Amino acid sequence: MSTLSQRPMNAVVGQEMPHEAADLHVTGAALYTDDLVGRTAGTLHAYPVRSEVAHGKVTLLDVQPAYDVPGVVRVLTADDVPGINDAGIKHDEPLFPDEVMFYGHAVCWVLADDLEAARRGAAAVKLEVEPLPALITVTEAIEAESFQGATPTMVRGDIETAFAQAAHVFEGEFEFAGQEHFYLETHASLALIDENGQVFIQCSTQHPTETQDIVSHVLGVEAHEVTVQCLRMGGGFGGKEMQPHGFAAIAALGAKLTGRPVRLRLNRNQDMTMSGKRHGFHSSWKVGFDGEGKIVALDTLLTADGGWSLDLSEPVLARALCHTDNAYWLPNVRVRGRIAKTHKTSQTAFRGFGGPQGMLVTEDILGRCAPALGIPAHELRRKNFYVEGQETPYGQEVRHPHRMVACWDQVWSNGELDRRMAEVEQFNAAHDDVKRGLAITPVKFGISFNFVSFNQAGALVHIYKDGSVLINHGGTEMGQGLHTKMLQVAATTLGIPLDRVRLAPTRTDKVSNTSATAASSGADLNGGAVKDACEQILARLEKVKADMQEEIGWDDLVKKAYFDRVQLWAAGYYRTEGLSWDASIVQGNPFKYFAYGVAAAEVEVDRFTGAYTTRRVDIVHDVGDSLSPLVDIGQIEGGFVQGAGWLTLEDLRWDTSDKPTRGRLATQAASTYKLPSFSEMPHEFNVKLLENAHENGVVYGSKAVGEPPLMLAFSVREALRQAAAAFGDGGAVVEIGCPATPEAVFWALEDARAGNSSDPH
Ligand code: MTE
Ligand code: MOS
Repeated sequence: MSTLSQRPMNAVVGQEMPHEAADLHVTGAALYTDDLVGRTAGTLHAYPVRSEVAHGKVTLLDVQPAYDVPGVVRVLTADDVPGINDAGIKHDEPLFPDEVMFYGHAVCWVLADDLEAARRGAAAVKLEVEPLPALITVTEAIEAESFQGATPTMVRGDIETAFAQAAHVFEGEFEFAGQEHFYLETHASLALIDENGQVFIQCSTQHPTETQDIVSHVLGVEAHEVTVQCLRMGGGFGGKEMQPHGFAAIAALGAKLTGRPVRLRLNRNQDMTMSGKRHGFHSSWKVGFDGEGKIVALDTLLTADGGWSLDLSEPVLARALCHTDNAYWLPNVRVRGRIAKTHKTSQTAFRGFGGPQGMLVTEDILGRCAPALGIPAHELRRKNFYVEGQETPYGQEVRHPHRMVACWDQVWSNGELDRRMAEVEQFNAAHDDVKRGLAITPVKFGISFNFVSFNQAGALVHIYKDGSVLINHGGTEMGQGLHTKMLQVAATTLGIPLDRVRLAPTRTDKVSNTSATAASSGADLNGGAVKDACEQILARLEKVKADMQEEIGWDDLVKKAYFDRVQLWAAGYYRTEGLSWDASIVQGNPFKYFAYGVAAAEVEVDRFTGAYTTRRVDIVHDVGDSLSPLVDIGQIEGGFVQGAGWLTLEDLRWDTSDKPTRGRLATQAASTYKLPSFSEMPHEFNVKLLENAHENGVVYGSKAVGEPPLMLAFSVREALRQAAAAFGDGGAVVEIGCPATPEAVFWALEDARAGNSSDPH
């Protein structure tokens, strides 16, 4: 066991703790970025002037009329930018564009004494745009050959020979939708300037360092002139990994030019229509099976709908490629990827970061092909599982695949799947107008940033003379419980009660050069750094202790150390060892380990409407030795429900007509964009952590949990497919839309009823 993962007796990690701010969350006392506006005198409010076409050249921008609106103080345009007029890491996102690239694209921003004046000022600005052709759907982009960025290919073995020898070969296409993050807190930034011109930005950002970088580029200053702080986020889900930077830069620029604090907060409608979402994908695929149902070859071309700029589309695509295998051994495989350029918001990170999309393609293939092979879908999945000693298509050994089997077996027995599958069959035989489906699906998800350099973190730990402890670390809190875990790690390492440790807000002037809190690695990375800092101090305290005759308590030891002039604070650092990645050939060991989980879902579908309920869900998920079991259970439940939303409810619709409103997002509020709510929760929801799951070499034996559970929701969509099939005479191959909304389920069951078996050919 490594010292990093070794856990002392009576450790504070592993104990069930509520989220560190749970009481603040539920009482409304928790402060979010925009709550700080009320505490900041003289704040200006920012409002965008936005395009009303999906694509076009700006031919006139007259901001003068805005100044006639009482309360308007300043209009920000490209001419005001002292540095680089760009908000993207790829330098393909002009902050003030002269060509609008999506419906709702902000061209300039108005600052005023209050929000209403800013809104009226924005309405007064004269903007004329000459429309240009706009590509809205991914298929339109494919036809027009409108692509951007890298076109990676991942290959292993020889697919041609394997297809030639396969007992069964099927081909198909699959297009599936993205997802709106719908974090409760929309994008928000508040920028202040001090007497030296130092910029201080409070921002709802998962990536304070990159917000700092982009702001300093826009302002044309060095990084040390900009400090970014994130108190907490009301959800990020990947949507605040890259997307906050431009908004923060607008606020910072406004503050710099006016000398006054500037607040930029998007309302819900602006947030939904201006910020990027999960990438929808198109895939065309060909799969070969041997006579027993083992996959012998998979060939697929994945096209991610990137939207108007690259943003994180390249790494998202890379993770999609690396997850097409999910839990399955693919001896011969070719996965090609490309990124469509469309006139929509720039699609971005979203829980799973492309992994879900890659996995969905394969899960959909298995769900579609099982009936054609005459093998129950659960059997087909199980027999293709990785076994010990096998490697992923990108050349990484799959360690501990038996844990996946353990999760599967436990879900099978806890969920009484033998009995319930028989019951579902009986129920379906006895009912014509409602049918049930019960599906079980696995998850294998790689943990670490694919890009090796990002796998590092820092922390700053102070022990004050009275023995109380204050920790800073580079990660951000978005509800996922990272701060709770970091408090537990510090208390465990120092061997003191949890209430002696406090945590200070995430700031770039405390811990520098941080990575995004993303890729589920927040606790692995920052936990390593916090532990390192604590251990450095502890080692010094041990020396002080060694000089003493009798036992001494913590407070006295700290006091003694201070008077002995022993340093009571430390900067901690952690880097994940053993990683390698060559993006050009899509090969390496990008992941420290894999997180595993299995879910079984049972649904009931109504023949006349396609409406369904989720009757029961059983999950067993591998989080290693949990750092904080309540937090982890919450992550699993939340991730699953968010995944079920993506796969079965949430339906993003853009206007694809030829009207002037082409490209407008039609679903721009919760009234038209269906989110999971209580009625969609599983009626019975059993979540268990895999036991005895110590992960060697990770902080206190734990595993990351943030994203992997989202993909447990494949089970719901596959159960819907099976229920739809049951409306036919059994054994039908069912294609089902994604999201499998009631409408999509209705069409799938109608096909099954009509015997339109959409046989993959
Ligand atoms: N949980 C909550 N409540 N809110 C969030 O915004 N984001 C998810 C996940 N769980 C999120 C969440 C995403 S996309 C990631 S990458 C991880 O949390 C990030 O945090 P971690 O690395 O600390 O797990
Ligand atoms: Mo999560 S999509 O890696 O922020």
